[in-house]
Amino acid sequence: MATVEVVPFEDEHAPAVARLATAVQWPSLTDPDVVTRVCTAPGAVSYVALDASHGLVGWAQALTDGELQAHLSFLAVLPDHRRRGIGMLLTVATFQATGAKRVDLVTDGAAAGFYVRLPHTRLEGYRLYPGGAEAT
Ligand SMILES: CC(C)(COP(=O)(O)OP(=O)(O)OC[C@H]1O[C@@H](n2cnc3c(N)ncnc32)[C@H](O)[C@@H]1OP(=O)(O)O)[C@@H](O)C(=O)NCCC(=O)NCCS
Repeated sequence: MATVEVVPFEDEHAPAVARLATAVQWPSLTDPDVVTRVCTAPGAVSYVALDASHGLVGWAQALTDGELQAHLSFLAVLPDHRRRGIGMLLTVATFQATGAKRVDLVTDGAAAGFYVRLPHTRLEGYRLYPGGAEAT
């Protein structure tokens, strides 16, 4: 396996992040312009994993107040590159960059085997749709 480097998101990564979102079936992030706005919004922290042979293979984004609280909004690794430690590298890099003391997240359960490896507290979570319509 080629080496993987975890680096801060730059605008040039947006098309590959959009392809990753397509691969993991996240339809709200398949437009590179949306990806760029999500990754560069005020309070956003975002890292990508670059494989020397395969290019961008992972991505994470969190929102932080820079002091206490952050929310891990997105974390994905291409299926063919999972279980190489890339998800953990992205999570640690993103968490450290938030400057926060804790990170909340919601997950549908498929990634539970990943998150339980980190120090954590299980809480009940909600995803709200203030506009009334369920977003993807
Ligand atoms: C969750 C995800 C990001 C993990 O990425 P990854 O690069 O495979 O994770 P890592 O290789 O760093 O895994 C670290 C450890 O977590 C655990 N783990 C990871 N994926 C797991 C799984 N599917 N089931 C059980 N344990 C898992 C393992 O203990 C693993 O260590 P090991 O391989 O030495 O046993 C990846 O599976 C993914 O992109 N899933 C689809 C998108 C998603 O669900 N994102 C999270 C929603 S918020």
